[in-house]
Amino acid sequence: MAFDISSFKNNSVRVKFDDVDYDAFRERPLTPAALRTLRYMSDVESHTICYLRDLLVTPSHKDPEVTAFLTHWAYEEFWHGEALDEVLRVHGVLADYAHIREVRLAQGVADRLAPINQALAANIIGEDFVAVHMSWGAINEWSAHAAYARMMQREDHPELTKLLKRVQKQETRHLAFYASQAKDRLERSAKARGLTRFAMKAFWGPVGSTIQPKRETAFVLNYLMGGPEGNKHIERIDRKMDEMPGLAGLNLVRKAVAKYGVGPGVAERRRALVHRLTGLRAAAAPRARTVAGALTRPVEVPKPAGSGESTATA
Ligand SMILES: [Fe+2]
Ligand SMILES: [Fe+2]
Repeated sequence: MAFDISSFKNNSVRVKFDDVDYDAFRERPLTPAALRTLRYMSDVESHTICYLRDLLVTPSHKDPEVTAFLTHWAYEEFWHGEALDEVLRVHGVLADYAHIREVRLAQGVADRLAPINQALAANIIGEDFVAVHMSWGAINEWSAHAAYARMMQREDHPELTKLLKRVQKQETRHLAFYASQAKDRLERSAKARGLTRFAMKAFWGPVGSTIQPKRETAFVLNYLMGGPEGNKHIERIDRKMDEMPGLAGLNLVRKAVAKYGVGPGVAERRRALVHRLTGLRAAAAPRARTVAGALTRPVEVPKPAGSGESTATA
């Protein structure tokens, strides 16, 4: 079913969080692991405007339906960050604009180059780039939806659940837009399918992994996607991506989280690595034998005048 952009823009509101009973967190605080994860999530939500900056230099800005969506998407994601920060502050975690600024400054040169690289690549590709953007958005929104579901499940805190259910409801609308746009665009262009498959396989990583230190991403993925329940979400998102024209069988989430030591892909990754190392060892063996042979070959010692044959070993 086509996404109703008119309904989305008319119903876009800031997530309600002024009625949350914050005293409930004082009586029963969230676990340290949940707070560390919430900090990561809030950083990602607050970074949305920077992602938007990089997207507006691409052909996506030419489509008014896409920009109508992005306008409200950025607004809603902004308020997700504000709402999560409120929960962090009740727990004594510093969550203010100085922190958000720190996160942005920590991006360094990569952040300055991002809009330039993106503009160059995307504008050379043209209209088909929008399919990459939409597919990327779909998998990220599915990931966000799953992340909030897992946090509610793990913490089982009534006030947190009340807030996160509202956030999650908005993520559902976001993923519906991205998924419907991606499907349409992939369906009608073979070039878009090839390009998107290549880009997702080569460049996609877990949400937030490009702006957070690797250890934080690993911690958060382990908290949210570790264990049998996490595996179900990994599997579910990958099956959703399989339904996208031209993107079947990529197992993007499974492979991406395995790089951080999480999920069922870790064992496969380890086997593949052992296989590769064994192959390298086999390939290197003849060369090693040649080198060993050269090092241990008897060295010709010049014969002193009038003596018999003589050799030494290197
Ligand atoms: Fe969000
Ligand atoms: Fe979202």
